[in-house]
Amino acid sequence: MLSEIKNICCIGAGYVGGPSMAVIADKCHFLKVTVVDIDSEKIDNWNNSNLDKLPVYEPGLREIIERRRGKNLFFSSDVNKTISDSDMIFISVNTPTKTKGLGAGEASDLKYIESSARQIAKYAKDETIIVEKSTIPVKTAETIQKILETCKKPEESISGEGSVFHVLSNPEFLAEGTAISDLFDPNRVLIGGENERAIKFLYGIYENWIAPEKILTTNIWSSELSKLTANAFLAQRVSSINSISALCEVTGANVSEVSKAVGMDNRIGKDFLKAGPGFGGSCFKKDILNLIYISKFYGLFEVASYWESILEINKWQQERISKIIVTKLFGNLSEKKIGILGFAFKANTNDTRESPALYICKDLIEEGAKLSIYDPKVNDEKIRLDLQKVITNKNHKKITTSNCVYEVSNNSDALVILTDWDEFKNIDWDKVNKTMRSPAWIFDCRNILSKNNMTKTNLNLWQLGNNL
Ligand code: UDX
Ligand code: UDX
Repeated sequence: MLSEIKNICCIGAGYVGGPSMAVIADKCHFLKVTVVDIDSEKIDNWNNSNLDKLPVYEPGLREIIERRRGKNLFFSSDVNKTISDSDMIFISVNTPTKTKGLGAGEASDLKYIESSARQIAKYAKDETIIVEKSTIPVKTAETIQKILETCKKPEESISGEGSVFHVLSNPEFLAEGTAISDLFDPNRVLIGGENERAIKFLYGIYENWIAPEKILTTNIWSSELSKLTANAFLAQRVSSINSISALCEVTGANVSEVSKAVGMDNRIGKDFLKAGPGFGGSCFKKDILNLIYISKFYGLFEVASYWESILEINKWQQERISKIIVTKLFGNLSEKKIGILGFAFKANTNDTRESPALYICKDLIEEGAKLSIYDPKVNDEKIRLDLQKVITNKNHKKITTSNCVYEVSNNSDALVILTDWDEFKNIDWDKVNKTMRSPAWIFDCRNILSKNNMTKTNLNLWQLGNNL
């Protein structure tokens, strides 16, 4: 029987698994932490001595890797062996939206969760705690538990005796770009589960750096549903302010002023009220689709359509921006060069999943524009790979990528700011002005520019939610 936790592992060395395990290793030197992944190239990059090659960019992450890698933090492709050495196994694999079959377009595809559970059932030792960290539909813990129970045939298990498994839900609330500070000082840690002893072991890890009053224990389904609900509420705030941004443009109000005034009400709060080109990232859309699916499943169609509207506003906001760009450029983008500043779904990450840039770039290319794209952390290969999925083959030659703002602006008819990188707040507009083709437009879709910095130029500025 498990008496203490010494070895933990995490299946999935992605944006969640990598940083969250790095922080556990940093805070708990007495634990051996191993992160495994089926993608051996990714593991090689986590092990690369050149820290610029780490698969995930997060401020503060490379310093932790430098401190703990090879000491109590390891990255490995040997999934089976690591599973059998571990007392506690976190599952942090991706759970994309299903593209076919029952629930296609809404439900999460749990194939990776399922294959991980089967692997655990086969290779784990006598008593193991399984922690679901991936955001998953409500009741997934039950599925994992069933797979573990039915697959742990003694003759197939490593010990020959079959194993005892306890499944906990421990959703991760980190936001990309601030993952390390979120993990060091989270608002709360949520542990859902039924088995007291298993909960105590996981609690025992977190209490090494997190105050007990911030560690909540709940039943397993509350924990799963809380994660989906938190993401849905955050996305809902973004869609709410984005809907108001359009109203500001036609009435002459300024959305930044409205956000500030509204957010100063303590009951509303100031966070997540920044208008922009719509939310992206791997979670918001997928989690809302999960809520929609589960609501429909239980016959709650009004609930489903409420959450559907949050996604509709998000899509509409992106389409609206594309249309405004076309209209301002005399309704014609054919043979025009448009510079795209920012491709990641938000600043301080190299993640492009569901980035608004994908959809806006696609619209502009389909209108005939040639794009020159620059993002401080997303490289040429990644940009091309992503766009290949949304545009037709013949349009690939309409894309170039650059290494700096001033290369992008050269001979451009417009610049479109899509990611809120700090670098874009300090652009030398005089320099840009000299390189662009007149009449030149700057579309600030993140509201990060100050008009005062452009007064000496003849650049035209359009800012989201602000009828200048
Ligand atoms: C997140 C969250 O964990 C999940 O809740 C969210 O819903 C989607 O993405 P994230 O870390 O951001 O996960 O995903 P990703 O960066 O894609 O990492 C997942 C990793 O799991 C990948 O590296 C993939 O290779 C790995 N994986 C997947 C396995 O190791 N085994 C599998 O069977 C499947
Ligand atoms: C989100 C949740 O914040 C996090 O708790 C959860 O674990 C995973 O999903 P993440 O997707 O990394 O994190 O980023 P987040 O900061 O939430 O931003 C999501 C999207 O909303 C981004 O595209 C961002 O630009 C956009 N956003 C956010 C706005 O447009 N306006 C805002 O005010 C805030």
